[in-house]
Amino acid sequence: MDPTQTYELLRNLTTPVVAITSARNGKLNGMISDGAVRSSIVPDVSRVLVQINAFNLTHEIVRETGRFALHLLHADQADVVTKLGFSSGRDGDKLAGVPHRLGVTGCPILDDCYAWFDCTVINRMETGISTVFLGQAMDVGRGRGDAVLEPAQLREALPARYRALYERNLAAAQEQARSLAWMFTPATG
Ligand SMILES: Cc1cc2nc3c(=O)[nH]c(=O)nc-3n(C[C@H](O)[C@H](O)[C@H](O)COP(=O)(O)O)c2cc1C
Repeated sequence: MDPTQTYELLRNLTTPVVAITSARNGKLNGMISDGAVRSSIVPDVSRVLVQINAFNLTHEIVRETGRFALHLLHADQADVVTKLGFSSGRDGDKLAGVPHRLGVTGCPILDDCYAWFDCTVINRMETGISTVFLGQAMDVGRGRGDAVLEPAQLREALPARYRALYERNLAAAQEQARSLAWMFTPATG
């Protein structure tokens, strides 16, 4: 099948949009993901899986510190996505304009969100392109809003220049990821 069509099919496997924050030696950071899922059905053992691309600053920080905070965003938070999901924390302090406080793990907790899970990493899997981190929530909170932000809704809410930038960033990330993907290959024989 044509790779573009394949990618459109894979887009159906995205999850609600989340903000993932991290902290290292006083440097606070945040990024956006639409690939975070629940990883436990036990209410008092809350676990989540997040997939973070190897070339993101967040990847470096979470690998090193073993901590992250995941935030479900509510439907009116496209502005948080534009602040955290379009540039790297290597180029500036993205959280400066996003009100937050520090949670029990030391990661930033956004004042405004649908819900947050402040996590310690308890396991991880390398994919080459990314690392999948299994986080156990040490603290959980409910913010505001009636519905979480879905990717399709976000695409509608983003200003036009961000939609174009999203496609450019995605193409650049796909190019970087292509060379890393072959770290793991299907077994033959
Ligand atoms: C809607 C959306 C979904 C994204 N999903 C992911 C994702 O699942 N994994 C990932 O590593 N980056 C994802 N990104 C890209 C990162 O948020 C982006 O590269 C960010 O600038 C990384 O910041 P950092 O270098 O400060 O960690 C997404 C961005 C957007 C806008």
